[in-house]
Amino acid sequence: CGIVGYVGPQRAQDVVIDGLRRLEYRGYDSAGVAVVHDGKLSVAKRSGKLANLEKVLADAPDGGLPHAHTGIGHTRWATHGPPNDVNAHPHTGGARRVALVHNGIIENFAELRQRIEADDHVFLSETDTEIAAHLVELQVQSGVDLPIAMQRVCQQLDGAFTLVAVDAQDPDRVVAARRNSPLVVGIGEGENFLGSDVAAFIEHTREALELGQDQIVILTRDEVTVTDFYGRPVEATRFHVDWDLSAAEKDGHDWFMRKEIFEQPRAVADSLIGRRGAGGLLQLDEMRLADEEIRDLDKIIVIACGTSFYAGMVAKYAIEHWTRTPVEVELASEFRYRDPIVDNTTLVVAISQSGETADTLQAIRHAKSQGARVLAICNTNGSSIPRESDAVIYTHAGPEIGVASTKGFLTQLVACYLLALYVAQVKGTRYGDEIDEIMQQLEAMPDHIETVLESADAIYELARAHVGARSVLFLGRHAGYPVALEGALKLKELAYLHAEGFAAGELKHGPIALIEEGLPVLCVVPPRGRDQLHAKMLSGIQEVRARGARTICLAEEGDQAITPYADDLIRLPQVPVLLQPLVAIIPLQLFACELATALGHDVDQPRNLAKSVTVE
Ligand code: G6P
Repeated sequence: CGIVGYVGPQRAQDVVIDGLRRLEYRGYDSAGVAVVHDGKLSVAKRSGKLANLEKVLADAPDGGLPHAHTGIGHTRWATHGPPNDVNAHPHTGGARRVALVHNGIIENFAELRQRIEADDHVFLSETDTEIAAHLVELQVQSGVDLPIAMQRVCQQLDGAFTLVAVDAQDPDRVVAARRNSPLVVGIGEGENFLGSDVAAFIEHTREALELGQDQIVILTRDEVTVTDFYGRPVEATRFHVDWDLSAAEKDGHDWFMRKEIFEQPRAVADSLIGRRGAGGLLQLDEMRLADEEIRDLDKIIVIACGTSFYAGMVAKYAIEHWTRTPVEVELASEFRYRDPIVDNTTLVVAISQSGETADTLQAIRHAKSQGARVLAICNTNGSSIPRESDAVIYTHAGPEIGVASTKGFLTQLVACYLLALYVAQVKGTRYGDEIDEIMQQLEAMPDHIETVLESADAIYELARAHVGARSVLFLGRHAGYPVALEGALKLKELAYLHAEGFAAGELKHGPIALIEEGLPVLCVVPPRGRDQLHAKMLSGIQEVRARGARTICLAEEGDQAITPYADDLIRLPQVPVLLQPLVAIIPLQLFACELATALGHDVDQPRNLAKSVTVE
């Protein structure tokens, strides 16, 4: 979900709605806003996208809610209760004195609700949130100040939450609380802001405060006070947001996603900048692990979710090849609830674009509690996962708004390669000149990506020709296997099509039964190398073709052997097999984006998804 809070001279409704618009990628099942005016609350909320709420406001006399200077807002990704008007946030207490928005899950809500329902409290919604609004209101009704009321309520809640509340009788303050769910403060002049991330207030200020876990923040026009859940003051770290507003604009593209696909050459180049120090040696500044610790590593476990998980799969091929250190890759949600074999010679690498994915956050806590060292690969400064890790490699993709990850994925791949090479350098498993050569190949990748992007129109045409497809399969081998999985994920996310990725060699062990006349199969063909990889892939392609599949092959320039077996052929630049995912995924991103557009879907905000899933 996305959360916004505001106190200042501007019309609160406008600031809140603008903020929600920039956070809408975090959830878009329903949206709402509450402002405090003349000792009263005014609330408007609607199911569906923010546009529905905006319409309600625009149709109201005077353009919506009363002119007020304090407000909160929410855009929802539903957990408890379907996305209808009543379940939309903000929620209020029974006396409509406190309004509150929430991101996360209050796990003990049923028990708390039962306790106060006995005292004739009537609940309107099916959400876990409404209980918090009632509890905070009960406190302020008994004469307790809003910040203290929030402290007391937070002490009773189990689970993960960001709460932001206003009290009708305390019109100049917004109070928020945070546990295991994101919240940042924007510091303005004579006005202050709250947001799930900096996009909420970047239009107004670039100065921000990073909050820790279990903290309360009290916002007035001129002051921001941070305490723990017991009212003890705590220091918050100030930071400057260095990307500007245009980074969060579509810039003439129809979708953020399309814009972000085309930003990939830059994103990859930026993620490579400054990684080499004296004598060309790799240096990773944010890598707070001593060489000694790296030399002692005997296992690496990569944990992540979604697209980031596929970046982790590529990492395994690279790390094992270059460093001879065993690597396991596991979905964070699975790792968290089993009994992994982890100790202080294990490095856990958590990959997360947002740095807030709850599954991944819980998994790193699980790993740390067992003594593992944790390194985060993350695109979001100041987010929870890098804060709680021992070391971090930041990717420099800039803000990623499209829900389906593109430039986030490519820059994660770059970070994985850098990590692998760094470990190889420290452990001495590769010579300096080998590392240097791979770095040069990496540095050439932005140009190669640019070359693939130049064939966008041909890929779009191919995508539009598949509007009627009911199912699409993706095949890959080696580092091309995760690319096939990611290509299939993109199509599921955006085009709502049945799509599956397979390791080409595994096909004959079952999935080949799916092949029928005309079924489109996208094949990621490895570069022609010394080994048998390319030849084996060709066999797999022939097997599906023999059974009627229509093959769309992604193969390197100059690969003539593939031509007879490709119904359609997309050319890739010649690059080493381990780096091929950086170019091979591009046509698959373009394909999914265009096919979804042709089907009339909302590419930036696919149904049922959210960019940053902060619940387990
Ligand atoms: C969500 C998004 C995916 C993303 C995954 C992991 O499910 O819809 O696109 O890959 O979260 O996100 P993270 O921020 O941890 O990389």
